Amino acid sequence: MTTAHTYSSIDISSASFWATTAVEREKTFKILRERDPISWHPPAAGGILPAEDGDGFWAVVRHEDIRYVSNKSELFCSGRGVQMENFPQEVLEATQSFLAMDAPRHTKLRRLVSAAFTPRRVATIEQQIRSQAARIVDELLETGDCDFVHQVSMRLPMWTICEMVGVPQDKRFLVADAADQMVSYADPDVRGDREPIQIMGESIFALASTAVEMVRARREDPQDDLMTSLVQAEVDGETLTDDEITAFFCLLAVAGNDTTRNTITHSVKALQDFPEQRQWLVEDFDGRIGSAIEEFVRWASPVVAFRRTATQDVEIAGQRIAAGEKVVMFYPSGNRDAVVFENPDEFDLSRTFNPHLAFGGGGPHFCMGNMLAKTQLRAIFKELLFRVPDLRVGEPEYLLSSFVHAVKRLPCTV
Ligand code: HEM
Repeated sequence: MTTAHTYSSIDISSASFWATTAVEREKTFKILRERDPISWHPPAAGGILPAEDGDGFWAVVRHEDIRYVSNKSELFCSGRGVQMENFPQEVLEATQSFLAMDAPRHTKLRRLVSAAFTPRRVATIEQQIRSQAARIVDELLETGDCDFVHQVSMRLPMWTICEMVGVPQDKRFLVADAADQMVSYADPDVRGDREPIQIMGESIFALASTAVEMVRARREDPQDDLMTSLVQAEVDGETLTDDEITAFFCLLAVAGNDTTRNTITHSVKALQDFPEQRQWLVEDFDGRIGSAIEEFVRWASPVVAFRRTATQDVEIAGQRIAAGEKVVMFYPSGNRDAVVFENPDEFDLSRTFNPHLAFGGGGPHFCMGNMLAKTQLRAIFKELLFRVPDLRVGEPEYLLSSFVHAVKRLPCTV
């Protein structure tokens, strides 16, 4: 596609921009919010496919505009990809399921799994999540000084999603690791001497072979889990194919692991950096954890960006967008928008008005796992704050990524 737009002089596409910290990047997003809220940029570096000539994306950085794009799914569709970069069609089909679909197919497939994520269903597994959080903290205390991400943050999300879907015990680390690699391929440390497409291929193979094994097992011997529901489900009178179930599985494994893991990691660091906030929370944990969790998620903003594609010529905030152009929403930027948030750069657990966009800006794709994530955050912080009061964390090692705000390692002493 060739367009006549001039690229913004403000860089949010280079690897060096994404290699800085979120605090540094926010300075750039603040400038864009104030001076050029809908701006045109070259494709982000490090993509899996080479960028086409004249390709680029519109950056949407203000709270109000992110909500608009999210809610107008007839104008801004997901079916042509939801990431900043172009991915090979095979990768999209194998991994993204209904995340990268539009109505009516999106509505039907989302409905199939939504029953597993209702507040009532989440409440029924809450006790199990609490027991699991207690076990994770038992093991942290036994282990002593360690990498907090590996020992704590990754374990509860991994356990929860694997338990719901029905992943066998011996496959859980493999699944969490493969899901993690799928969002980490841009980082040189993760990549080593592999090409991004190779990392993607290896991760898809690991997840797909696990899913196919589970599908076979559930067809012979149904269980009370999500995989059994998928195997038995019918859409438009047809059962799902193995490929469709595999894509479902990839989506849930990625969506359910990394996001909550990174929220736990960023929040544990923030509670240490802002001891008065930690104190405030501990003084009335049960009464205050609700608002605290909203702030944990706003602060962490673990998903950085999702993309849509304009279905017709349209305007956002006075800027004309042509049909077929990419529109990328930057959630961390919306979550620091001073028009909506008082003192947006402060970690303030007592915020009473906190309409953050960390789970998306509303609309049909709004995060399905938000209740589940909140239940996990409540459980793990109750254990950590009261049973490991002397926990100290060091400096986070951030992942280089324009998609997720992730921490690779966080040393801790217990
Ligand atoms: C703190 C944790 C989490 C955050 C910040 C988060 C964030 C998001 C965001 C930003 C979206 C896209 C929203 C949009 O396009 O409008 C999304 C979608 C989704 N999330 Fe989450 N998520 C979290 C946890 C989870 C968990 C635990 C699950 C469970 C599997 C999950 C499952 C999904 C699914 C299935 C979708 C796709 C929904 C659709 O396309 O209809 N998420 N999430």
